Amino acid sequence: MDLLRRNGKSTDPRDVGVSIEEPEEGYQVVDEYHVKEPFSKVSIFKSAKLGAGLHYFSIEYPLVEDEYETYQKMVKILSKELEPPTEEGVEPERYVFEQAERIAEKYYRSLGKFDQNGWERIFYYVVRALAGYGRLDPIMNDPNIEDISCNGVNVPLYVWHRKHESIPTNIRFTSEQTLNDFIVKLAHKSSKHISSAQPLLDGMLPEKHRLAATFMNEVSTKGSTFCIRKFRADPLSIVDLIKFGTLNERIAAYFWMLLENKLSFMIIGGTGAGKTSTLNATLSLMSGNDKIVTVEEVPELRPPVSNWTQLNSRQSFQFGTEASKNITLFDLVKVCLRYRPDYIIVGEVRGEEAYTLFQALATGHGGLCTMHADSLDGVIKRLTSPPMNVSEVYIPLMNSALHIQRVELPSSKGKTIFGRRVRTVWEIEDFDKYRVVATWNPSTDTFETKMEDSLLFERIALNRGTSKEEVVRELNNREAYLKEIVRSGVHDQREVTFKILSYYIDRREEKDEHSREPRKKYHKKRVSKTETEAPLILEEAQLPEMAVREVEPRA
Ligand SMILES: Nc1ncnc2c1ncn2[C@@H]1O[C@H](COP(=O)(O)OP(=O)(O)O)[C@@H](O)[C@H]1O
Ligand SMILES: [Mg+2]
Repeated sequence: MDLLRRNGKSTDPRDVGVSIEEPEEGYQVVDEYHVKEPFSKVSIFKSAKLGAGLHYFSIEYPLVEDEYETYQKMVKILSKELEPPTEEGVEPERYVFEQAERIAEKYYRSLGKFDQNGWERIFYYVVRALAGYGRLDPIMNDPNIEDISCNGVNVPLYVWHRKHESIPTNIRFTSEQTLNDFIVKLAHKSSKHISSAQPLLDGMLPEKHRLAATFMNEVSTKGSTFCIRKFRADPLSIVDLIKFGTLNERIAAYFWMLLENKLSFMIIGGTGAGKTSTLNATLSLMSGNDKIVTVEEVPELRPPVSNWTQLNSRQSFQFGTEASKNITLFDLVKVCLRYRPDYIIVGEVRGEEAYTLFQALATGHGGLCTMHADSLDGVIKRLTSPPMNVSEVYIPLMNSALHIQRVELPSSKGKTIFGRRVRTVWEIEDFDKYRVVATWNPSTDTFETKMEDSLLFERIALNRGTSKEEVVRELNNREAYLKEIVRSGVHDQREVTFKILSYYIDRREEKDEHSREPRKKYHKKRVSKTETEAPLILEEAQLPEMAVREVEPRA
């Protein structure tokens, strides 16, 4: 099927108030793939005519005149007749598709005659109009796209492409009304409200994509704007990060040791550096016995454990004369102490919740968080000044910090390649004294680690009544075990978690069996691929040893 077939006349149901630039002869194709074959594809072009850099073209198979008429009729009928599904958990796209099929049968006389391909095209457009994102649907479904932003009318939408970075698209809104309507639709989809009276929106779309938007000219000169940061259906696991070269097995094993010993760490870096993804990936290194509470503005973290309470802040809203109260991260961190968590995980620390988080650390809880900053000095300065006001003596309670950054990688072919790398890992000895335990070397793209110098390992050894050498040996074992997992091809977050839990269980069994004998080397146990084909949902029933710890009633 020729996707670029055009019948001369624009009969596309999508073009009202939106301009779609068509590809021209002579554009050089840099990359090309289907999104929903055969209806939509992406071509990435280079051309002097388009201007410098690459250009993202989202191309859809257009409807011909009579298909378009039927499409319009069907949308009209469905808008009237579509009832919410009676069952829960029905996928909206699937549901609309089935309903469209039903309508096509019911009204076959008035809807016209088409061959199979014709109907499929019509259904594609009906689904994307009623259950999807209209003209933006193909971009939303392109797994290579990390985010989509619109800076106003008559400027191209921009996407962040996994391979090609930030590039303009062939789509622009040309009508303010269409853009406003689209933003209102996005707001509805995220169960939020946006209007001239409340022109700011921060929400989450049903597929868990993060949505930020502004309305009309209230706060943005060029009219309404929005940015959608897409949620990955399969979160990056620690193995993915190792494979990408973001960190190595030894650094991962180091954080594994910290997590087992209830030590705290923070992840710092710029926007989109990969802080939240890294934090989420390290959560699979937890022992499974830990009770954790996550506190976030927008729920992004998905710890692969069962004993998990998820708390999210809420903006105030007005209902008639009644106004609801804002629930801030600060309120949530306070309340989560009552849950007696082993770990409090704050998605992103920005304000006074930092103070409460450090209070929690001072009372023996573990704490993890991310913070937007480009240096550890900057972090500590912000933590100790208003509104965070963390006392200097509390700073070392955050035991370690990891700095992640998007960096240019050394490349032999003269091409610029970017990647995300853990730049530095520090242990925080005092509020102005840090010890580097790992760094990234930008000329060789390798990591240099000095875990033998770790102060925290000394502390772990003291607590466990062993030597630091023994702790480093354990680190070596875990590093080897992680290497085995990477080699075995397992990378899915749940599967990785399962592997890590098996390590804990095996070790516990070994301890029980040979409580007097010296410990075996764990990496001798092979990680087989077939093992991972065992059921992987971490239900309590499947992991009796790891069952949820009873919460004792508070005195
Ligand atoms: N190590 C990584 N390698 C490749 N892509 C990554 C990595 N970490 C994060 N990403 C991607 O980058 C985007 C931003 O990541 P996120 O963790 O939300 O950043 P931050 O929390 O620092 O703003 C996401 O789309 C995510 O999938
Ligand atoms: Mg984040």
